[in-house]
Amino acid sequence: MAEQVLRHIPVMLGEAVEGLAVRAGGRYLDGTFGRGGHARAVLSRLGPDGRLLLMDRDPTAIATAQAEFAADPRVSIRHANFSSLADWDETAAGLDGVLLDLGVSSPQLDEAARGFSFMADAPLDMRMDPTQGESAADFLARADEREIADVLWIHGEERFSRKIARAIVQDRAERPLTRTGELAALIERVVGRREPGKHPATRSFQALRIQVNGELDSLKQGLESALDRLNVGGRLSVISFHSLEDRAVKLFIRDHSGRVQGSRRGPPVAAAPARLAAVGKAQFPSDAELAANPRARSAVLRVAEKLL
Ligand SMILES: C[S@@+](CC[C@H](N)C(=O)[O-])C[C@H]1O[C@@H](n2cnc3c(N)ncnc32)[C@H](O)[C@@H]1O
Repeated sequence: MAEQVLRHIPVMLGEAVEGLAVRAGGRYLDGTFGRGGHARAVLSRLGPDGRLLLMDRDPTAIATAQAEFAADPRVSIRHANFSSLADWDETAAGLDGVLLDLGVSSPQLDEAARGFSFMADAPLDMRMDPTQGESAADFLARADEREIADVLWIHGEERFSRKIARAIVQDRAERPLTRTGELAALIERVVGRREPGKHPATRSFQALRIQVNGELDSLKQGLESALDRLNVGGRLSVISFHSLEDRAVKLFIRDHSGRVQGSRRGPPVAAAPARLAAVGKAQFPSDAELAANPRARSAVLRVAEKLL
């Protein structure tokens, strides 16, 4: 059987790369290579002395990067979580820009065997890096009812989180929950179809994915490391797809931008010196992009520049 080629349409490509203000001789890091849409655009702006460092925690994404870019002397590639970017000696010389295009790629969603989707029956995995950590099935087998409910509520804003968690714990006493199809059917049985055009398992699947991949902790650690490694004048360009991610990015920029801290009622707390400045406001995909690529619908881009 011919191998299916799964593609990813890069989201807010022009805006995100514009945000990096690429200089031909600069040194840039794309922490979420995916299928390289943004990386290719950065590379096209680099001259012979420019450098592009590529990371992804998904081995399949890294294999694509190796196949396309390994021969380019300007490019270095590393299979790792971007939260560990400061451990990569290639970043020690400082960076002029860091791009993070968060969440999952279309190939990850579309390859049923990865277990991210309720649209096809497959092992309930959901790890971006299947060589590490616990799968969604392992998490659902281990966690107690309260922890499962909290994950569905906090990461998915699932109103029926408690009902779903109770059903999971009851069902798993009979037999383990190991398939995406079983989990999707359980959720449909418990909550029924309620939002038109939206499968009842959408929120729970997203919540489990965020949990299994520790996405919010990786983001927070990655932002801190990026700020440490950025040169003065260097840019951070981050696309998020979930309100919790966008909130983390927004607060990170605000907390490092020298604004006075503390509550209205308490004594004013001296502001720490500003290390970052937001560049413009949050940006959203254009109507034309949304019409061409519905998967861009929840995207938010924030850009910041390092001051200190
Ligand atoms: C939205 S896609 C990026 C698409 C890419 N910009 C493109 O145009 O093809 C997100 C990618 O980031 C990777 N990823 C998500 N979180 C990561 C993390 N903490 N560290 C490294 N890679 C991560 C995923 O494996 C996925 O390949």
